[in-house]
Amino acid sequence: MKISIIGCGYVGTVTGVCFASFGHDIVFYDIDEKKLDLLARGESPIYEPSLEDLIQKNRQRLVTTSDLTAAVRDTDITFICVGTPSRDDGSIDLTYILSAGATIGKALRETPDFHPVIVKSTVFPGSTEGPIRSALEEASGKQAFVDFGLGSNPEFLREGNAVHDFCVPDRIVLGAGDARTMRALGDLYASFACPKIETSIRTAEMIKYTSNAFLATKISFANEIGNLAKKLGIDAEEVFAGVGLDNRIGPAFFRTGIGFGGSCFPKDVRALIAGAGDHHETLQILHAALRVNEDQPLKLVQLLQAHIPDLKGRRIGILGLAFKPDTDDIRESRAIPVIRALLDAGAVVVAYDPLAMESFSKIFPEIEYAPSAQAVLTADAVLITTEWEEFERLNYSGTTVIDGRRIAAASKTADIYEGVCW
Ligand code: UDX
Repeated sequence: MKISIIGCGYVGTVTGVCFASFGHDIVFYDIDEKKLDLLARGESPIYEPSLEDLIQKNRQRLVTTSDLTAAVRDTDITFICVGTPSRDDGSIDLTYILSAGATIGKALRETPDFHPVIVKSTVFPGSTEGPIRSALEEASGKQAFVDFGLGSNPEFLREGNAVHDFCVPDRIVLGAGDARTMRALGDLYASFACPKIETSIRTAEMIKYTSNAFLATKISFANEIGNLAKKLGIDAEEVFAGVGLDNRIGPAFFRTGIGFGGSCFPKDVRALIAGAGDHHETLQILHAALRVNEDQPLKLVQLLQAHIPDLKGRRIGILGLAFKPDTDDIRESRAIPVIRALLDAGAVVVAYDPLAMESFSKIFPEIEYAPSAQAVLTADAVLITTEWEEFERLNYSGTTVIDGRRIAAASKTADIYEGVCW
């Protein structure tokens, strides 16, 4: 099939390149010409392991254009993959998606065939059939589900594993409001062996939010139990190894520590809470999941203060700035509240991360950035905030380590070793 991808950020690039690896022809469009230039040169506009290899291998199937009308007109199906940032109240800002919808709508005017438009961006249930549909209909002068198709196909990609998650998914969720769009989506994913859920557009949108909200809640639940386990002298890891063997529960996402970050979990949970509020529903469990997640990083600083009560002028090392290992992404990184609390207490912070120091220095120019993880170990104490593999191999002898990510090796070498949650 010929597929146009609107938006070459994380989701769009991975989706387009992976579809190409399944033999489809891709036309990428973005308002940011720099991203298109990179793709045209065979380079990835985002950091994701193995993606650039896949771009190189499929170059003949990847085309870029700054002409959106041509992209839509010359393809069989269009995926909207633009960003949906948060507003101050946690709700989703649809500005980019509506503007993409209006431009795609204009292109649909000149597209004689029935053309399905599929929303991959994460949007609150009802958004596709509501404002996005209106933007497309207004600009095209055509009717959704009759003259052009409309659907939702949410993604469940983890950063660092996105290519694998796309190519070998647990399930594929297909939402459509008309049979022709559902057929086109079915054809597109025909070679995938996993379960496929064919459903309404708003159910597909809800599955995405519910999945992320549940996983975020699972982490916060694990962290609360972990906090109690620590006080009781019980190893939370052992507890969850036992709990996770129950098939109804499962072992994943029980890693205790300083909580969840990233571009999806915090944003999606807030969006679900805000959207529920519009319908006079209070999602109490999700409110609590967020509260636990806000408190967890501060526990790391409290543990530190049990050893160094007055942090004024003390040199405190931070290992890990990315929100998780194998990414340079610092969005909602748990290192941010930890460093804020340290600076508020008057500490001098020296940090190291293998990939994320450049972006971090833009929001925290006042802290020191070390040339290596080893260099951080000369600080008065070291806090581990991201579980990069290289931090597991460090020799922490002579150091006070407060571990927010449970790096086992540290416990064997540090002079004082403490972790949150166990
Ligand atoms: C997540 C979802 O997994 C993915 O399906 C969705 O599409 C986007 O959001 P991602 O943000 O890339 O993916 O990261 P993920 O690996 O899920 O981790 C999110 C955060 O939770 C990280 O900060 C991680 O450190 C934390 N986490 C994860 C835990 O604290 N404990 C766990 O057991 C698992």
